[in-house]
Amino acid sequence: MPNIPPACLRLFTCMTALLLSACGAPSANVAAPAVAPAAQPSYQALDALGRALFSEKALSASGLMSCATCHDPAHAYGPPNGLSVQYGGKDGQQAGARAVPSLRYLQSNGPFSEHFRDNDGNDSEDAGPTGGFTWDGRADSLRAQAAIPLLAANEMANATKAELVERLAHSASGALFKQVFGQHAFEDSERAFDQLTLALEVFQQNPTEFYPYSSKYDAVLRGQAELSAREQRGLAVFNDENRGNCASCHISQRTEGGAFPAFTDFGHIAVGVPRNHTLPANRNPAYYDLGLCGPARTDHSDRTDWCGLFRTPTLRNVASRQVFFHNGVFHDLRTALEFYASRDTNPKRWYRKNAAGKTVKFDDLPAAYQDNINQEAPFGGLPGGRPTLSQQEIDDLLAFLQTLNDGYHPTSPQ
Ligand code: HEC
Ligand code: HEC
Repeated sequence: MPNIPPACLRLFTCMTALLLSACGAPSANVAAPAVAPAAQPSYQALDALGRALFSEKALSASGLMSCATCHDPAHAYGPPNGLSVQYGGKDGQQAGARAVPSLRYLQSNGPFSEHFRDNDGNDSEDAGPTGGFTWDGRADSLRAQAAIPLLAANEMANATKAELVERLAHSASGALFKQVFGQHAFEDSERAFDQLTLALEVFQQNPTEFYPYSSKYDAVLRGQAELSAREQRGLAVFNDENRGNCASCHISQRTEGGAFPAFTDFGHIAVGVPRNHTLPANRNPAYYDLGLCGPARTDHSDRTDWCGLFRTPTLRNVASRQVFFHNGVFHDLRTALEFYASRDTNPKRWYRKNAAGKTVKFDDLPAAYQDNINQEAPFGGLPGGRPTLSQQEIDDLLAFLQTLNDGYHPTSPQ
């Protein structure tokens, strides 16, 4: 077993409770049903079923796309390529609107909350909007989230739950599904849909697959490896409030309870990344992806103070990605770091000019919402000034970020 931090074990207990209730385990104060319910599926059975369903292409209208197509196990369950957004739908030609996130290290993320107070004895500090799944936190659980791609016209494109369950029943995974949920599993498509998303949720919490803690940095935390001098300098820049200040959002320390860091606090923040002009959605100049205030999310469209905010992603495995930020505007990690270093000192490099030849800073957020953008370190400085991070510091950060990739073996050269 990998070294599982206590927080995860706690989550496991909760998950098991959820499983039992979701599968209809009779609770103590309910009279026993006349007909005994089918045996509860075991964790192992649900995990194995979820694994099969995660790569089951027959669950898509095109027959060509599974969860694993976009969330590739060989790429830390992130995108397999450098495309800003992936293409899906019935014909496989429909563009997504956002970059595919990695599905690793989400196990300590909770549902979206407007006022998040960390349980660290310092209850007075309100970290603001935090949590939820997807870039805007609109799904409360992995289970709720799974319904989105299964039914989205530009992803797996099932028109209804019944249509999806029909596909499942005729797929190679249909027999396994019946083994787990019984011979009558496909008779009620609402129930079968719930069971399908439950199995996906259980699989997505498989520790070996989704939170292996197998990076060099984890080995260092366990006292089994040491950072090189350059990686050590990178970590110092990362943690230094006056330089990178990265750790203020991308947490690098173990929690008080000893859990290994997720390299995100799951907080929602606006960093003002440039508009990605290659996205089909952005051909319409009036279209803006405003994160928490819409349009994908519809329950907070009146919160103009939340326009432009997106959930802070984990930086674990970030050095194995080929596409960065919610709109996939950058395609290499160095450029992403240079953006942090010179967003404010060299805006001309990052933002387009308008018709009058003037650079429009924060060109992916209407002027009315630009006060929402974060101005703390590493941002800051005036146009023409020195970038807040030197090339040396960026090199060191890059070396450090490599240590967050899973799959480190003490004997392998790094
Ligand atoms: C066409 C590509 C595509 C497919 C297929 C796909 N996803 Fe995703 N996934 C995405 C994108 C893009 C996002 C970000 C969506 C957003 O922010 O609105 C995402 C987000 C997620 C998230 C939220 C991660 C986080 O950081 O909160 C989870 C969980 C997830 N997907 C699971 C799944 C599962 C399970 C399936 C199969 C049922 C699946 N995805 C199929 C592209 C895809
Ligand atoms: C104030 C909080 C905050 C600070 C400080 C911060 N980040 Fe981020 N980071 C975010 C948010 C929020 C996003 C996603 C923004 C978006 O996509 O619009 C992000 C995204 C990223 C990404 C893209 C990851 C991906 O999967 O697409 C990288 C790389 C990154 N940050 C590295 C850093 C580094 C290195 C530092 C320090 C130099 C840093 N961040 C400082 C909040 C922060």
